[in-house]
Amino acid sequence: MSYQVVYSSVASTPMQLDELEDLRERAQDNNAEDGITGALVYVDGFFLQILEGPQERVDGLMRRIGRDLRHEDVTVLQAGEVEAAAFTGWSMAYVSATPRQVADWAGLSGTKKLPEVWEDIHQDRSRVTQLSAGILAALNAEPKLPGDAD
Ligand SMILES: Cc1cc2nc3c(=O)[nH]c(=O)nc-3n(C[C@H](O)[C@H](O)[C@H](O)COP(=O)(O)O)c2cc1C
Repeated sequence: MSYQVVYSSVASTPMQLDELEDLRERAQDNNAEDGITGALVYVDGFFLQILEGPQERVDGLMRRIGRDLRHEDVTVLQAGEVEAAAFTGWSMAYVSATPRQVADWAGLSGTKKLPEVWEDIHQDRSRVTQLSAGILAALNAEPKLPGDAD
């Protein structure tokens, strides 16, 4: 068994590429040490992150993330035990996506604007499972980057 949290948040100010890169590097180092895996999606100022691993480690990380001033409106969309961690190949996969991709992953292909997609995901939490599965499928379709966990 593993524990998984999916949350969304809004960047306090739009993140620059180098800032995202710093965040990703730090997250990958820390997560590899803590036995945490997952994925971070950034699209147009919105974050969606999937974290999985031992519950006390994931909860500890969520407390740090909740205090991080780089984002706000941290909203847990899904949290609980899962049969097995799904993102085991990635200490923190960074996924840069277009609003269209996020909509497709969540099964909302008819919706084009990100705020609408975001609202739909928040209103219908079953979309969250679909979205995580879509992110995982996209990651599995691309070659792994150096620094990703084995
Ligand atoms: C959107 C977002 C996602 C983050 N994800 C992670 C993460 O997966 N792992 C991590 O260690 N820190 C993550 N952080 C950073 C933490 O909030 C915190 O700054 C960091 O864990 C502190 O680590 P340090 O003590 O090594 O500097 C994230 C921050 C933001 C804004």
